[in-house]
Amino acid sequence: MPGTSPVLELRDVARRFPGRTAGAPPFTAVRNLSFNVGEGEFVSVVGPSGCGKSTLLNLVAGLDQPSEGTVALHGVEVAGPSSRVGFMLQKDLLLPWRTVLHNVEFGLEARNMPAAERRERALAELKRCRLTEFADRYPYQISGGQRQRAALARTLAISPDVVLLDEPFSALDAQTKLVLQKNFAETIAGSNLTTLLITHDLSEAVAMSDRILVMSDGPGRIVEEIDVGLPDRDNPIARVGRPRASEIVKHLFHALHLGEREDA
Ligand SMILES: Nc1ncnc2c1ncn2[C@@H]1O[C@H](COP(=O)(O)OP(=O)(O)O)[C@@H](O)[C@H]1O
Ligand SMILES: [Mg+2]
Repeated sequence: MPGTSPVLELRDVARRFPGRTAGAPPFTAVRNLSFNVGEGEFVSVVGPSGCGKSTLLNLVAGLDQPSEGTVALHGVEVAGPSSRVGFMLQKDLLLPWRTVLHNVEFGLEARNMPAAERRERALAELKRCRLTEFADRYPYQISGGQRQRAALARTLAISPDVVLLDEPFSALDAQTKLVLQKNFAETIAGSNLTTLLITHDLSEAVAMSDRILVMSDGPGRIVEEIDVGLPDRDNPIARVGRPRASEIVKHLFHALHLGEREDA
């Protein structure tokens, strides 16, 4: 959002990994990454498989450190995972031996929150994510879509001010994906969360975000930035029906040279 100070700021970030064989030069996964995300803004990063999207997310999450440049949250350089940042990956990472409710309570236990307060917070989050009736089930007893909702509930229960999502819908069938995108969009719109979504799904990026950053083939860098400029951020289904949405998708498709790729 223009005019607000950035919540997240990347300056000339690069990440190199050691060469894959002895004596091989280091491998550059991402380079020259510079961008800001403002408070309450929803930004998506799209790019071909292997271009460094997850690498970028791990750097922002503080799970990994850049080889060059800086990543800052609220003006402070990221040195490790922060309790103000929630993240969610394609794989839900729910603990199989805990019920949905106890999974949502998990992050709160680590903060020594009193049991009664923890329970209350977890139940409120389950309600918001429409999972109340599944609270006592184990992850294997619910669907993939419900598991992702439970993972979102767990992520939001810690009251983060930033959420990082790495392809959270990509393992779901097309129909479940639409329902979840709508569910996530409504949940996120009802808060003032700053969101960074990594996806290779171009329509998803257009349906859900305020701004889209386009990453090139590896080593990934940002080659384009698009202001989505569509209303209804809380209603992705309404958004994708608009002519501007399909124009942006078409533009992204060409920008990423997807029509020319054999492996897309
Ligand atoms: N920890 C690591 N060590 C070595 N190479 C890595 C590591 N993590 C990612 N890479 C490599 O960096 C590149 C980008 O990976 P990734 O960020 O997972 O891409 P994406 O999420 O866009 O598909 C890939 O070539 C991958 O093999
Ligand atoms: Mg990835």
